[in-house]
Amino acid sequence: MKKADQFLREKVLPIFKNRLSEKELRRIKNFGKRLLTFHKTSDLTFLAQIYGTDKWGEHWYTPHYEFHFQKLRKKRINLLEIGVGGYDKPYSGGSSLRMWKRYFSKANIFSFDIYDKSPHQESRIKIFQGSQVDSEFLDAVCNEIGNLDIIIDDGSHLNEHVLFTFHYLFPKLKSGGIYVVEDTQTSYWEHYGGQVEERNNQGTIMGYFKSLVDGLNHVEFKNKRYEPTYYDLNIISIHFYHNLIFIYKGDNQETSNLNRKSS
Ligand SMILES: C[S@@+](CC[C@H](N)C(=O)[O-])C[C@H]1O[C@@H](n2cnc3c(N)ncnc32)[C@H](O)[C@@H]1O
Repeated sequence: MKKADQFLREKVLPIFKNRLSEKELRRIKNFGKRLLTFHKTSDLTFLAQIYGTDKWGEHWYTPHYEFHFQKLRKKRINLLEIGVGGYDKPYSGGSSLRMWKRYFSKANIFSFDIYDKSPHQESRIKIFQGSQVDSEFLDAVCNEIGNLDIIIDDGSHLNEHVLFTFHYLFPKLKSGGIYVVEDTQTSYWEHYGGQVEERNNQGTIMGYFKSLVDGLNHVEFKNKRYEPTYYDLNIISIHFYHNLIFIYKGDNQETSNLNRKSS
């Protein structure tokens, strides 16, 4: 299949390159990729390679995504990914959006980027332009989407931005939804606002998300004056991988076994 992809890229597309518009070329590429992937739409690593996203190859995320997302594959969900890719080049990027569209056969895929990425819009893919740290913009995006089942932060990866966006968007995620943060290595990189010495610093991505873990057990805290936070009450699991975090939203109010024994 990779040979067929190479043939398409190297032999077929150059014939059309100077005769067709970018939009027409993209349509042909999409059609070719649909053909190449028709037998393996549940294999996210394969789809990542064909669609050309760095979620496999540069990073090693797709097996984790598959583990967490496979049960949603045939559902009518709304997925929002922050960061279309390709930065200021309007026609570059969009690889992961097309991969998600192929993987989730009934999903609506939404994305936004600080640059204009509208050329990547197509059926079931809608793109907005704005910043992940602009609360008015985030409100407008959420109002337009409605229910949000999955949010993936693959935007600026600046520590401050990732935490701002999580605090703003996690409350808007549906109960039962999944919030994903990619590229958490920037937690240790000073030029992204991270730091390596104080790894529990809550101003960093890893320091902050690690601080939420105890909240999973907040009903076990025997300090009666402890007031559970929104995150204590609404996060039911957190999964850490190399450079990747999945946060599951749900009602985290199971009773303590100690309460049952004493009643
Ligand atoms: C790593 S790329 C996304 C790659 C894409 N999700 C994929 O997997 O194929 C990051 C994108 O985030 C965008 N970005 C950077 N800062 C942003 C911000 N503050 N708000 C929204 N998008 C931003 C960049 O322009 C870039 O296109």
